[in-house]
This record gives sequence, structure tokens and C-alpha cells, in this order.
Amino acid sequence: METSDPISILRMDDESFERLSQYVTTVYGIKLPPAKRSMLESRLNKKVKSLGLSTYRELLDLVFSKEGKHSELLNVIDLITTNKTDFLREPLHFKFLSDSFLPEYFRTYGSRTLKVWSAACSTGEEPYTIMMVLEEFKKTNPFFNYSVMASDISLRVIQSAHHGIYTLDKISAIPPEWKRDYFLRSKDRSSNLVRIKPALRNKITYQRINLMDQSYNAVSQDIIFCRNVLIYFDKVVQEKVIRKLTASLRPGGILFLGHSESIMNMNVPLKQINPTIYQVPYGIA
Ligand SMILES: C[S@@+](CC[C@H](N)C(=O)[O-])C[C@H]1O[C@@H](n2cnc3c(N)ncnc32)[C@H](O)[C@@H]1O
Repeated sequence: METSDPISILRMDDESFERLSQYVTTVYGIKLPPAKRSMLESRLNKKVKSLGLSTYRELLDLVFSKEGKHSELLNVIDLITTNKTDFLREPLHFKFLSDSFLPEYFRTYGSRTLKVWSAACSTGEEPYTIMMVLEEFKKTNPFFNYSVMASDISLRVIQSAHHGIYTLDKISAIPPEWKRDYFLRSKDRSSNLVRIKPALRNKITYQRINLMDQSYNAVSQDIIFCRNVLIYFDKVVQEKVIRKLTASLRPGGILFLGHSESIMNMNVPLKQINPTIYQVPYGIA
């Protein structure tokens, strides 16, 4: 039985919790153990009320109905995913890119287009950081070419990445020259918003890709960033996803994982070159 507490957060009944957590784990890989029930309640409470409903059971009936599957289900997934991200997050990855990978790549392949995929891009800070690093490299190597694809399961974060608008505090760690070269300030000086310049914004292509999909519409990548998303999956799912990501990389391609993610004890064809940086050995297609 669902009840309201004094600050009126609706409580989720066992059956609804089971139904939702099973669906989310099966379809999106995201684990939702019982300890996550209060997180779900606080994130979905408003949704139930805004739809004029009074229980999670009603919400799930709607979400899993024929009409709901096309509209409300995506909104609910948007609410369930955790999208925390930052510019220059885990800076060692970007240092490796600019100091080691890019010079070697350019020496070997010249102007061949480097293909980069940010596979859980959230609100865009990760793919834009990648692009700033690539643009900096291009300043001294004008024949260098690249393309960046960014994907996520949440449409809300993809839209936000596409807009490329951030508050000033979000870009505090970015070097001043990069702020000058890659961001626009509002003409209204009292505004605390900045926007990525169109030249960068328009260069990213976006897709909605679920890492649980059978295969990905992203082949022959040179670099994949898949950071801070596998932590939400269990070990078996993590290994499956890493296998599919590896299959989307070229020989010599690089996979970046988040700081608390690893391929330890997994049977995957990758060579570790740093605690969270892996390479597909040459000779593996
Ligand atoms: C914590 S953010 C990480 C963002 C960025 N990669 C970083 O490290 O800063 C995790 C992102 O993974 C996405 N995500 C969760 N499950 C996913 C799945 N099955 N397929 C694709 N993206 C997923 C979420 O929507 C969220 O935007």
C-alpha cells in the first residue's frame, strides 16, 4: 500500500519497485538494489504528481502501456539515470591523449580522420573537453583531422549537450585561453551563462545508444571514452559491454574507463597501458 509522509514523498510498494528495477536492469543494465528505492522515490515522486496520479503503480501502468512506451517511459529513464559529469574530469586521460596518443597517431596516420566516441556523454562536458584537446593539437598540426560522436541513453542530456550552455562555475577548471577560444559569454554581463562556440558545437554528431544494445552503430573507432557508467552495471554486464566496445575499436584503438572501473578478471582482448586506459592489440580485428 502506498502512503504519503509529512513532506509528501510517495512511498513505492514492493511490487512496483520490483517491476521497475527489473525492467531497468534488463533493458539498460543499471542495477537497482533495494537500497536505491528511496532514490527512486525522490526522483519519481514529482512525476507521479505532475501526471495527476496518486501511486507508482499507476505511473508504471502508464509507462508500460502502448502509449506510455513512446512518451513517458523515456522521461522516467531520464529521471533514473545519474548524469554527474565535469569538464576535464580525470585530467590524466586528456594528458595521455595530447602528450602520447595524438603525436604518435599523427606521425603514423597523418591526415586520416581520427574517430572518437564519447559513449555515455551526459550533458556534454566530456565530448567538449575531448574536442578542446583535439583542437589544441590541431593548432600546431593543421592537417590533423578528427570526428567526434557522442551518445547516451538519456534524451534530456543529449539535448542539453547539443545546446552547449553551462554556468560559469562549471568551467572554472578550464584554462583561460581555452575559455577565450571555445566559449562565448553572454552580452548581458550579469548572466552567469556561457555557451560552446558553434564551430565546436556543430562538429559533434549525437546518437541515442543504449550500451545494452546487441551491437552499436559506431564502428572502427580510434578512441572510445566510456567513463563512469559501467559502475552502475553488474560484472557480467560490464564484461559484455566492454566486449562490444572493443569490437567497435580499430586495432591499436584506445578505451578509456572511469577511475573506479577496470577490466580486472575479464576475458577481453585489451592490453592495459595505464590503470584506466586500454588498447586493442594490433593484429586483432
Ligand atoms: C555519471 S554519467 C558519466 C558521464 C561522463 N562519461 C563522465 O565520466 O563524466 C553516466 C551516464 O551514463 C548514461 N547511461 C547509463 N546507462 C546507460 C546505458 N545503458 N547506455 C548508455 N548510456 C547510459 C547516463 O544516462 C549518464 O548520462
